[in-house]
Amino acid sequence: MSAASQPAAAYLGITQVDKAYGAAVVLDGVDLAVDKGEFIALLGPSGCGKTTLLRIIAGLVQPDGGTVILAGKDVTRLPPHRRNIGVVFQNYALFPHLTVAENVGFGLAVRRVARADRAPRVAEALRLVQMEDYAARRISALSGGQQQRVALARALAFAPSLLLLDEPLAALDRKLRESVQVELRQLIRRLGITTVFVTHDQEEALILADRIGVMNQGRLEQLAAPRELYAKPRSRFVLDFVGRSCLIAGRVVGTAEGLVSVDTAHGRIQAPGSFMSGAAVEIGLRPEALRLGRGSDGGMNSITATVTDRIFLGSRLVMTLAAGPGERLLAELDAADAEAASGETVTLSWPAVDTLVFPAGAAG
Ligand SMILES: Nc1ncnc2c1ncn2[C@@H]1O[C@H](COP(=O)(O)OP(=O)(O)OP(=O)(O)O)[C@@H](O)[C@H]1O
Ligand SMILES: [Mg+2]
Repeated sequence: MSAASQPAAAYLGITQVDKAYGAAVVLDGVDLAVDKGEFIALLGPSGCGKTTLLRIIAGLVQPDGGTVILAGKDVTRLPPHRRNIGVVFQNYALFPHLTVAENVGFGLAVRRVARADRAPRVAEALRLVQMEDYAARRISALSGGQQQRVALARALAFAPSLLLLDEPLAALDRKLRESVQVELRQLIRRLGITTVFVTHDQEEALILADRIGVMNQGRLEQLAAPRELYAKPRSRFVLDFVGRSCLIAGRVVGTAEGLVSVDTAHGRIQAPGSFMSGAAVEIGLRPEALRLGRGSDGGMNSITATVTDRIFLGSRLVMTLAAGPGERLLAELDAADAEAASGETVTLSWPAVDTLVFPAGAAG
């Protein structure tokens, strides 16, 4: 293969990274390619390996196999202080008995920045996070949000090639968290620093990230832009983990012209895709795809279901419905045209193109 036909090398390239603790496999062949300046969120349930992957990138944990490339250099065997990576952990790991400025300066001292150069860099980092007036304060005299900024300043002070953030907002209350999310995003975008951000809050991932990687049991299930992840989840796990959804069980009767036909307890449903006839599948639906009534135009699926509950969200209304035993549907409708009452049986319809189909029982 000529060099020209090779894809451009990623700024951060993780290839086939494995990690086990004894018999427990924590990371299983993880590949991740991050472009320069990109903001990636890693999302996944507790224990799926997010922190372990971050620690491997930072050099705090050695992988059993695989490589980590940063800015064209194989850093897999380099100690943390030689990787030029800024890290902010969930608990910030600040020294409570030191001042704000001393905490930020500490990271520079560890990296052997000359003493005379430290003070201006500390001041600059504190200015970035708007904490310059607090330089002489002790950490123990700061609020959670202020501590978060100091931890960020410490990670930014040595102009890192990469920023790793492990649930840096987890300790903040909801309101503060929402304002800090936006600030953090703007600051990082302005500085153009390549960032990998771990969270288990999907809303936070959707708000902040250029692309989201969804992890499940030590594997990266999908890496995609938020919109694509939501609209085209590659697995039932991703469908379920990101956003609200519902499922209908069925069996494939055939595939024609890019549409797979699935027989369900509620009639035939069509979806884009291709499956073997006879395959057990699950139809996945996003609540906002559903409409009340039988669609008049072609290419629509429909189903009847009984309204079980209605939740008003201002202009929108979320309706829960029972389709069959154990099959609960969710429809997000315009409140204005959702008159059906609880107990009423209604017809719901949605475009075949907005229908997802997955192999049954492959939730992972
Ligand atoms: N040093 C260790 N020794 C043994 N097991 C470990 C060690 N570190 C992590 N694990 C295990 O590896 C798995 C993944 O841990 P990790 O901290 O990466 O998860 P996580 O996705 O960050 O979870 P959370 O969202 O709860 O922070 C867990 O089952 C954890 O118990
Ligand atoms: Mg973690």
